[in-house]
Formats: sequence, C-alpha cells, structure tokens
Amino acid sequence: MGEALLEAGGESMLPPQAFLERLKDFGQEHTLGRWKELNEVERDELICELEAVDLPRVSRIARKTLQRGDSLRNPVPLAEASVSCIEERTAQERERWWGLGLKAISEGKLAVLLLSGGQGTRLGSNDPKGCINIGLPSGKSLFQLQAERILRIQKLASNRAGSGRLVMIPWYIMTSPFTDTATRQFFEAKKYFGLEAQQVIFFQQGTLPCVTKEGKIIMESACKISRAPDGNGGVYAALKTSGHLEDMAKRGIHYVDCFSVDNALVRVADPLFLGYCIDRNVSCAAKAVKKLYPQERVGVFVRRAKNGPVAVLEYSELDPALASSVNQETGRLNFKWSNICMQMYSLEFLAAVTDELEQDSIYHVAEKTIPSADGPVQGIKLEQYIFDAFPYAPSVAIFEVVREEEFAPVKNASGVDSPESARLLLLRLHMRWVVAAGGFILHSVPLHLTGVEVSPLISYAGENLEEICHGRSFHVPCEIR
Ligand code: UTP
Repeated sequence: MGEALLEAGGESMLPPQAFLERLKDFGQEHTLGRWKELNEVERDELICELEAVDLPRVSRIARKTLQRGDSLRNPVPLAEASVSCIEERTAQERERWWGLGLKAISEGKLAVLLLSGGQGTRLGSNDPKGCINIGLPSGKSLFQLQAERILRIQKLASNRAGSGRLVMIPWYIMTSPFTDTATRQFFEAKKYFGLEAQQVIFFQQGTLPCVTKEGKIIMESACKISRAPDGNGGVYAALKTSGHLEDMAKRGIHYVDCFSVDNALVRVADPLFLGYCIDRNVSCAAKAVKKLYPQERVGVFVRRAKNGPVAVLEYSELDPALASSVNQETGRLNFKWSNICMQMYSLEFLAAVTDELEQDSIYHVAEKTIPSADGPVQGIKLEQYIFDAFPYAPSVAIFEVVREEEFAPVKNASGVDSPESARLLLLRLHMRWVVAAGGFILHSVPLHLTGVEVSPLISYAGENLEEICHGRSFHVPCEIR
C-alpha cells in the first residue's frame, strides 16, 4: 500500500509516514487507498476520522468476534424451577413484591434506562421509533406512554412516601447518532410530557467501524469510514464512559430498570418486578413470556451448559430441531422462555460487568449490505446485545409475565408486530380493565379496529378504575383520562 502511494505521486502526495506505519500495524492501510484523489481538506478529514478510531480496540473486537462466531452448540433448557411462573404466584406474594418495590422507589433507589438507539430499519420510519404514533385514540407516541407510566408510578410512590414528598425517578435515555437530535427535540417540543427536564438524561451509545469478513475497515467514501451503532449492549460501555454510572451512584440509585423503546405495553419502573428482584436478592433479572410456537422469531433464554450461566439465543441461532423439541414430562417446548427486552439490574452489577464485557470483547456479527466508496458491499456490523451481560451475573432470575398485559412490540410497518397490532393489543387490555371495573363499552365501529384507551396517568396496571368506570358507558373510540 505504501509503495502504491509512492508510485502515485511525489513527496506531497504521501500521507504522514508514522501514520501509515500505524495503520499497517493493524492491517488497515487500505483506508488510505484513495489518498491521491483527495484534496488537502479531505485529507485532513480522513486523518481526523482515522485518528478517532481506537485501532487496538477495534482490531481486538473484530478479531475475537470473527474467530469466535456466534453459535452455541449445546444449549440447555432452563429448569422449570429456575423461572418464576405466573401460575405459581399467589396474590399475597404479588402484593408483597409490589409493596417492596414501591418502597424502594419512594426511597429514590430506582432509575429507568431506555434503549433508544436503534435505527428501526424494519419499521422504515425516519423518526426515532419512540416518536411514532401507533394510532391510539389519544394519538400518544410510545415515548409519551412511557413518560406517563413513570409519572403514575412517581405519584403512587410519592403517596407512599407521605408528608408531601415528591418522588422523582431519573430516566436515562440512550440514543445513537441516528436518533439523538430528533429524540431530544421531540422531548423538548412535548415539554418532557410533564416530567421535569432535569430528570430526563440523554446520552449516546458508541459506534464501531463496519468491517469486511477479514476485519478490514470499510470506507463509506474516500475520506470517511463506515460506522454503525455498537448494538443495544453498547449501553454498558456508554453508561460508563458518559459518567452516568457514577451519577446514578451519587443520586443513591440501587436498581436500574432497562427496556426497549418499541413495546407499547412496557411496564416502565414496575414495582412488582423490582420487589421480586429485591426479594430474591439477584443482581440481574429479565422478564419473559412463553413462546407461542417453535418458529416464533424471538430470542430464548437458555443455559450455556448444564448448570452453566443463563444466556439468550437469537431465533436465528437456535437449531430448528431444538426449537421444536418438547419436554416429555410437561409436553411443553424445551426452549420456551422468550426474551422481551425488559430487565432489572443492580447498579453494582452494571458497574462490574462493563469491564468484563470489554475485556472479553463479546460482540456479534450482523451481516449487512453496507454502502461504501465502491458501491454497496457485503460487510459486518459489530454489535453487542443487551443480554450479553447475563452470563456474567452472579445471579439471574427469569420472571414470567402475561404476554397480553406486557408485550406489544412495534417492529414492522404492517402485519405482525406492527403499530396496528400493538395498538389493538393495548386497547384490548384496557377494555378488559374497564369492564372488570364495572364499565360498559359501547361501539358503532367494529371493536377489532379500535377501542377504549386508559391514560397511564390514571392507571398503570388496571388499578384505580372502579371509581371512574363503575356503571359508566364509554363510546369507542375514546381515551379515559
Ligand atoms: P431492535 O433489535 O429491534 O432494532 O432493537 P431496531 O433498530 O429498533 O430495529 P431494526 O432491527 O433496525 O428493524 C431493540 C431495542 O434496542 C434498541 C432499539 O432502539 C430498541 O429499543 N437498540 C438497538 C439500541 O438502542 N441500539 C442499537 O444499536 C440497536
């Protein structure tokens, strides 16, 4: 490469020698391949771009990830006893956990953490996913639904704290270069949906260069490298580098409730889940639902080996025969616990796991078509996943929740897991709440198209509705506020 550059022109055409040598050390000298075509400004730009790359880190991550591959050959199903199943919970237990969780929240020990750096390619919207209006009667966005659930829990926790004390739950929102500006502007324009501006803390996840199968950095143009967000697991490193882990510790946070942006039914800051984690004294817990059918496109919880650590296998990584295999005793799927991206961490664990993940360079290969200076090429995005931390946890608990109550994903523009399916799931649940509270639903439009929505400001999980709904009729579509 250096020789090719020399042939291309005289002294002034050459990149700085030391710079070239350093790139050669990491096998990345091809990034200067179009040096001779660049003007001075572009050359400076390219040098800045390359200087900003932590070459030893990127090389290590690419090398280890490409060598390791993703497959886990012999995953072991989770033992029935290691999951907290819905059927096993008593009303007293639920009440106790709710109380324990609410107490911790009222003491200011919980922060919520939103993963909102994804590009939402399947949805195909230019806005960050959280901004989208899924067509509810209220027209609320996903961000607004989440904010109002936080407001409701703050109110319940403040009531519990008593003596007029206002509880504030800090909301950390991870964005990426693709979602950052639009997300901040949306929150500002909507006046933080009634939250205090200072309790909403934005920070950006990192990006990594896209590479070829040989680990060579792909150039987006002659003077710009191709980059992609480092996956939702980038949150671990980003929390640390942004200083927010320390910030959380200073605020007296003990637990962090982490969730993805694209679930219209997500129970943000769920006191029940928190209370369960406190009761079990686990450093990490995840909510799960039962898989609907073997080929459902969801990741499943497994053990890496018999008595090994808990991990998640993506649907593409689970052998189809294993995915369909059935436990002879229970008649249920062996690998039935689906990951729905709602997890609780102790702050202590979050602080410890970041270094371990970084040391082991746990990243995955996402093969994608990547725009490059030579046209679209098949390349690799290096991504960390949120669940990569689970195997490092001294204790992990899996907590089953009712799918219809907590899981309405928004992944695709239409059909399965779309804004429409999520809207209908939410409305169906809310109408069940209203009817259970003694209300009546009146409709002149078919109920499979719309329904009654309950504002999170008055009810988080169906509570508090008797007084408002009993004996009253609600005409579809409407929002009960
Ligand atoms: P998905 O894996 O569904 O990705 O993200 P996505 O970007 O939203 O959608 P597609 O795959 O491009 O269609 C699950 C959660 O992880 C977040 C998303 O914002 C979502 O909340 N995420 C994903 C990040 O925060 N950063 C990433 O780099 C990727």
